[in-house]
Amino acid sequence: MKILGIETSCDETAASIVGDDGEGLARIRSNLVFSQLAEHRPYGGIVPEVAARAHLERLDGLIAQALDEAGVGFADLDGVAATGGPGLIGGVIVGVMEAKAMAFARNLPFIAVNHLEGHALSARLAADVPFPFLLLLVSGGHCQLLAVEGVGRYCRLGTTFDDAAGEAFDKGAKLLGLGYPGGPAIERAAISGDASRIKLPLPLRGREGCDFSFSGLKTALRERVEKKGIFDDTFRADAAASLQQAIGDHLLDRTGNALALFRALYPSGRTLVVAGGVAANKSLRARLGDLASREGFDFVAPPQSLCTDNGAMIAWAGLERLKLGLVDPLDFAPRPRWPLDPNARPAPGAGVKA
Ligand code: KG4
Ligand code: ZN
Repeated sequence: MKILGIETSCDETAASIVGDDGEGLARIRSNLVFSQLAEHRPYGGIVPEVAARAHLERLDGLIAQALDEAGVGFADLDGVAATGGPGLIGGVIVGVMEAKAMAFARNLPFIAVNHLEGHALSARLAADVPFPFLLLLVSGGHCQLLAVEGVGRYCRLGTTFDDAAGEAFDKGAKLLGLGYPGGPAIERAAISGDASRIKLPLPLRGREGCDFSFSGLKTALRERVEKKGIFDDTFRADAAASLQQAIGDHLLDRTGNALALFRALYPSGRTLVVAGGVAANKSLRARLGDLASREGFDFVAPPQSLCTDNGAMIAWAGLERLKLGLVDPLDFAPRPRWPLDPNARPAPGAGVKA
């Protein structure tokens, strides 16, 4: 089977062809990601209208290139998948309309993929990860712990009261003058830093459960930066290392609670998975790996290039859905919000998270 996957929900335009080898394992035949960083830089953040226009300008060419690199034509495809939400709605509409048009013209199944399911199943792209597994989903817009029971079957164990983990990196980097996206910049700066120099609080210390909160960390860092006034590269590196450590401490603390809960709810589950852009962070990957092995769990993190937004994860999720007959009608409406677990209630105080 071969699927075209399209991702346009944020500031990356992406197209990919993914197939399977017949035994369920993925083969990525092409995976092209065009980052819109340069388009948004003058505005100091992502501008939804600019993003939608940039997706529109790039997508046709990117799809042609993805088919070309994979050495396949439309006639070789078994389906077309696109991110159907959640995300910046203008961009999602561009991807969904393109995918629907191709599916209609070529009489192919159309699959609307939940972007979060794309991240969730990305671990199964590179490794044979059995259901159920515990997922720490950490991206620029989301921070959740989920029991993944199967394709399309999720039980949310925890979510964030305020910022997402990626936002904590991005806002911290902005405070330290390290630019966007903040995660990779903080990780680079942290290499030469002393993580013990700046004491940052452990959010929700001593509180039970699997929810997150990052706003206190951000405020504590801002106070330290403002008190310092003018700072040099050494302070910057120390602050970056301290922030990375503190975000990791919080993620580990809550994941530890979730492992205990998951073990009780799903006795057959043996695997901890991390996914989403923040899962590219080496220190976090190493610390989660240690936690999992202490708790007797296997640990799986997708290759770093598949952690941040990409088309391969959308193609793969589409392929997993298609195999189960989960296809969508051509009147599917793009969804700005789309929780993976429809029964989960929003965390008290949570803002616009899905
Ligand atoms: O999954 P993603 O590409 O987009 C969303 O769906 O949000 O995640 C982007 C987020 C950004 O906040 C970025 O700063 C963060 O992932 N990120 C990282 C790293 N690489 C990307 N955070 C920490 N360390 C990294 N190496
Ligand atoms: Zn994402």
